[in-house]
Amino acid sequence: MGRWEKEEDDKGYKGRQFVAEINGEIVGWCEIRMSKFGIGVEQLSEFALSRNTSLSEVPLITNLCVEEEVRGKGVGKKLVEAAIKAGSGWGKEVYLQVESTNVKAIDFYRKLHFDVVFDDPACRRVDVGWLGWEEKRTVKTCMRRRVRWF
Ligand SMILES: CC(C)(COP(=O)(O)OP(=O)(O)OC[C@H]1O[C@@H](n2cnc3c(N)ncnc32)[C@H](O)[C@@H]1OP(=O)(O)O)[C@@H](O)C(=O)NCCC(=O)NCCS
Repeated sequence: MGRWEKEEDDKGYKGRQFVAEINGEIVGWCEIRMSKFGIGVEQLSEFALSRNTSLSEVPLITNLCVEEEVRGKGVGKKLVEAAIKAGSGWGKEVYLQVESTNVKAIDFYRKLHFDVVFDDPACRRVDVGWLGWEEKRTVKTCMRRRVRWF
């Protein structure tokens, strides 16, 4: 498991980025960084607060992806565990957002002891369209886990 460190730079970034390598090839990556919880959460502050969701900066897992050919071999789990370990001093809970239609990833995160907090309909996703990058509305499921879940 490789690691890029990039903590507290000029823009106030506090995070860690991990890559998984097999035979020198990068096959997966994952990041954890301090971030406001949720892209659309500002519009939903009351909704979020009513669900006991923090609006301050929290450790947020993001950009998790494993190459298709090596999925199901424990790479994703190792990446998430490494990210949680790295962010364990930043808060008691770690958060993430996943597209609500990505049932496979939601099941994967449940297996790693994440629970659904709420669905956020005010999120945006960047897609490549005919005219270049396009922003689209999307619903994301917010999940969280205690650093130590047991
Ligand atoms: C989600 C993803 C990262 C999982 O990575 P992976 O390397 O295949 O997962 P692992 O092999 O580490 O699986 C860890 C555990 O989750 C389970 N799991 C993995 N995929 C699952 C699925 N689709 N449904 C249910 N459980 C699943 C495994 O069985 C394993 O359980 P175990 O520890 O009891 O054996 C990978 O499928 C992926 O890159 N998907 C596309 C990108 C994506 O959706 N990223 C998340 C965006 S938020």
